[in-house]
Amino acid sequence: MIAQPLTVLDHHYQELRDDGEDVIKGLSKNPKTLSPKYFYDDHGSQLFEKICELPEYYPTRTEAWILQQYADEIATITNCCELIELGSGSSTKTQALLDAYQKIADSCRYLPIDVSGGILKTSVLQLQEKYPDIDIHGLLGTYEQALVHLESNYLQSRMLFFLGSSLGNFNPEECDIFLNQVSRTLQTGDYFLLGVDLQKPKDILEAAYNDSQGVTAAFNLNMLSHLNWRFQGDFDINLFKHQAIYNQVDNQIEMYLHCQKNHLVSLEALDLKVSFEEGESILTEISRKFDLATMEKQLQSKGLKTVKTWTDEKGWFGLILCQLK
Ligand code: AVI
Repeated sequence: MIAQPLTVLDHHYQELRDDGEDVIKGLSKNPKTLSPKYFYDDHGSQLFEKICELPEYYPTRTEAWILQQYADEIATITNCCELIELGSGSSTKTQALLDAYQKIADSCRYLPIDVSGGILKTSVLQLQEKYPDIDIHGLLGTYEQALVHLESNYLQSRMLFFLGSSLGNFNPEECDIFLNQVSRTLQTGDYFLLGVDLQKPKDILEAAYNDSQGVTAAFNLNMLSHLNWRFQGDFDINLFKHQAIYNQVDNQIEMYLHCQKNHLVSLEALDLKVSFEEGESILTEISRKFDLATMEKQLQSKGLKTVKTWTDEKGWFGLILCQLK
């Protein structure tokens, strides 16, 4: 079959050219922060795929199990003609849903959306081969760009899904903005399927983000290499050390890069010089852990009423299907 061309969101290259504002802001703050979106250059996306297979990193495997068990039920309840995935990555877990949809739907469209062009292109080509009856188009861009694009490109009935607990990487304010935007891209009766990592003991969580093979450490450090090539920087990666801790007050994993020595960094393309003192850290990611009841209430406040939730046997991960009322 002829492969469909990759659809590129209109403003993507614009965004690549003029972003970096958030890097200037984050590195000028005390304590310093960087946006987790800078994890995902092509190498970072590959490292993330490796993380998903680590024995300690239970979320992917657990969510995949839930999807395998309940995909047929989800497809039967929702029966939409358009499936949209935010942050699709390799779309591996999604295939349970595509299999289920292929069995029941006459015509169906799947739009995976990701910021990482390499992985998106590869997975779209593979999925087009595997699911010839599903119309598949990749959208390259950030969540914000995608959600704006989706507001005006409506088919007939829609299920938007956001898996892998990526919602946990937003702080409460960003989460609120995101959910408002999600409900704006849906029409009454449309569905939103959300995967959330649930609260559990600290030792399990910290092991998942400090794995014994050092893949998460490499993923965290890769952010600095990404900034080096993207903004002509000179971070010395060897001076930084990865650490992830579970903050039990805010119920979130916090990932840091600690600088081991005084270090002056220049990011030429941003006309920025930043000095690090020995022991100083950059917060690169939060990963919030939720409880289902609170999450359902928050969704309800956006008009998204829970239809059904599913979890695994240990209650480690939750899948919430909700519908816009
Ligand atoms: C993408 N996101 C949901 C992952 C998480 O668990 O918060 C990113 C990640 N960071 C370290 N390991 C995985």
